[in-house]
Amino acid sequence: MVKLTGLKKFKTAVFISGTGSNLKNLINFSFIKCSPIKINLILSNNSKAKGLSFAKKYKIKKKIYKFEKQSADENKIILYLKKNNIKLICLAGFMKILSANFIKRFNGIILNIHPSLLPKYKGLKTHERAIANKEKISGCTVHFVSSKLDSGEIILQKKVKVSKNDTPKSLEKKILKQEHFLYPKALKKVLSNL
Ligand code: GRF
Repeated sequence: MVKLTGLKKFKTAVFISGTGSNLKNLINFSFIKCSPIKINLILSNNSKAKGLSFAKKYKIKKKIYKFEKQSADENKIILYLKKNNIKLICLAGFMKILSANFIKRFNGIILNIHPSLLPKYKGLKTHERAIANKEKISGCTVHFVSSKLDSGEIILQKKVKVSKNDTPKSLEKKILKQEHFLYPKALKKVLSNL
């Protein structure tokens, strides 16, 4: 068992495509003295991702791979991550589906956060679908990434009440707030077992 004393920090890459609120939250988490992670890289497929601004702000390296030729880009990423001794990959709103080959290379050390209570509502438009189905409870899930979309082993989940007046936007906001608690909690759980 690794003691979370602040001495041993797992070198982490966070993959994003958009706003990066989970990234920002993970950066804040990494700054806590007893945090088990240090964020060494922010990677994006989208050069316009808002979250990339955190690279400059917090002096974290950033890399952009457009995934136009996915396998060529993945090979470059694999080399880069191995060379830089990255021990953990956190997907946080990353909109590309990584190949089975890539996932195999980092087996058991890629995590993702998904805005539903998996196995319900895999894929996109989770909030729209939850509301259309009149769900009373939705939530978020942190899970290991496997080669099947949103189907890897679940690490932690948090339920969120869906109220009658909720719209996809309001539900997204409520769930995102809980995601920011859940991801660090899941990381502590996973990394204390490594
Ligand atoms: C989050 O809802 C996350 O669960 C999903 O994409 C969204 C990303 O939001 N995978 P942000 O970019 O972290 O703000």
